[in-house]
Amino acid sequence: MNKKSIVKNLLIVSSLTISGAAFAVTPSASMLGNTCAGCHGTNGSSNGPATPNLAGISSEYFIDAMAEYKEDSRPATIMSRIAKGYTDEEIQLLATFFSEKKVVSIDQSANAKKARSGKKIHKKYCEKCHEDGGRSSEDDAGILASQMMPYLRNTIDDFISGDRDMPKKMRKRIKSLQKQKGDKGIDQLIHYYGSQR
Ligand code: HEC
Ligand code: HEC
Repeated sequence: MNKKSIVKNLLIVSSLTISGAAFAVTPSASMLGNTCAGCHGTNGSSNGPATPNLAGISSEYFIDAMAEYKEDSRPATIMSRIAKGYTDEEIQLLATFFSEKKVVSIDQSANAKKARSGKKIHKKYCEKCHEDGGRSSEDDAGILASQMMPYLRNTIDDFISGDRDMPKKMRKRIKSLQKQKGDKGIDQLIHYYGSQR
């Protein structure tokens, strides 16, 4: 090997090392997504119970949620520590990754009678914004259908106590539901969402 080609080979090796290092700082969307799988399940379909599904989530809602966790403005047992570890660019990649997945729901043994009453309550109080029985994520609200029931319970309790900010109009609906049906109505709603596939 002459001197010129040794230099050329060295350049190739060093450029490979540089691109290798670049790859390590910007992982792919699926590599990032896999780091969440221990709790949120494969591709964002949770195995429960208090960890929500992320599959199918609207990317705007996802980005808002991560920002709120980062700045400690949304109550969290775990997520504010986790969210702080990701850059805006990585959060954008994660948002795309999870929003493109389909949820694979598990049987949560919801009570059929409660679910039937919950369906009616949903139509009256919640469908306006959580369309298609809570399946839609189009209004940049979370997906309620087939969401983990203990997660929904915790979240609604956080809303009611004021620990998590809720849209003004949603607060009005929840208040009037509580007045008309009490906590029983909320429990029936949760069984309705948990019963959906
Ligand atoms: C150790 C378990 C754990 C890990 C790992 C984890 N999460 Fe979470 N996640 C939770 C829990 C529990 C909640 C409910 C809020 C809380 O208590 O922190 C949650 C809530 C969320 C929510 C709110 C969803 C909604 O419907 O509003 C998002 C978004 C989220 N996590 C994203 C992620 C992402 C992205 C990762 C990976 C980078 C991740 N999580 C890793 C446990 C985890
Ligand atoms: C006026 C529109 C509106 C109405 C009516 C409404 N919601 Fe919401 N809901 C929202 C929006 C917007 C969000 C996202 C809030 C946020 O995180 O900033 C949300 C979020 C939620 C979440 C959190 C989802 C998650 O993944 O963490 C739950 C649970 C929920 N709503 C339940 C209900 C129930 C039950 C009703 C009926 C009693 C209802 N909502 C009525 C707009 C509404």
